[in-house]
Amino acid sequence: MKEYTIQSTICVYGWDELSEDDRNLISAAKDATKGSYAPYSGFCVGAAVRLEDGTVVIGCNQENVAFPSGLCAERTALFAANAQHPDQPVLSLAIAARNADGFLPQPIPPCGACRQVISGVEQRYNQPIRILLYGTAGTHVTDGIDALLPLQFSDEYLGH
Ligand code: THU
Repeated sequence: MKEYTIQSTICVYGWDELSEDDRNLISAAKDATKGSYAPYSGFCVGAAVRLEDGTVVIGCNQENVAFPSGLCAERTALFAANAQHPDQPVLSLAIAARNADGFLPQPIPPCGACRQVISGVEQRYNQPIRILLYGTAGTHVTDGIDALLPLQFSDEYLGH
C-alpha cells in the first residue's frame, strides 16, 4: 500500500487586513443576500464575482418548492457573469451567508456542485479564482479552488 497526503492552506483575515477590492466584493456579496429567495431553508446566501475588467456580478440562492430545482448563490453569480460577459475571466468570488440571527461568524464553504463549477470556470479562463469566504469572525481566503477541491476532474481526462 502507498499513501499520499493532500494539504490545503487557507488564510484567515480580519476585516482591516483585507484590501479595499476584497472588502468591496464581500460587501457586494452581503448585499446580494437581499435578493435571496429562501422560504424553505431561511438561509440567505450571497455571492459576488469580480471580472478582469473590474465588473462585479452578483448572485444569490434561489429556492424552489421542488428542492433540487433551486440554485446556490455561487452558481447563480458565476453563470450570470459568464452569460453576460463571456470574454471576461473571473478573478475573484466572495460568498456571505446569513440566517435569522444575521451573518454567520464562521463562513460557509461552497457546496460540492459549486466547487465543481468554480473549477470549471478556472479551467475555462485558465486562471485561478481568489475565493473569499466571509464570516463576521474572519474571512477565509484561498487563491484558487485547489485548496477546496483536491483531485479535480478536468477535460484532460476526456483525452481531447
Ligand atoms: N446554499 C448556497 O447558496 N450556497 C452554498 O454554498 C451552500 C448552500 C443555499 C442553498 C439553499 O438555498 C440554502 O443555502 C440551504 O442549503
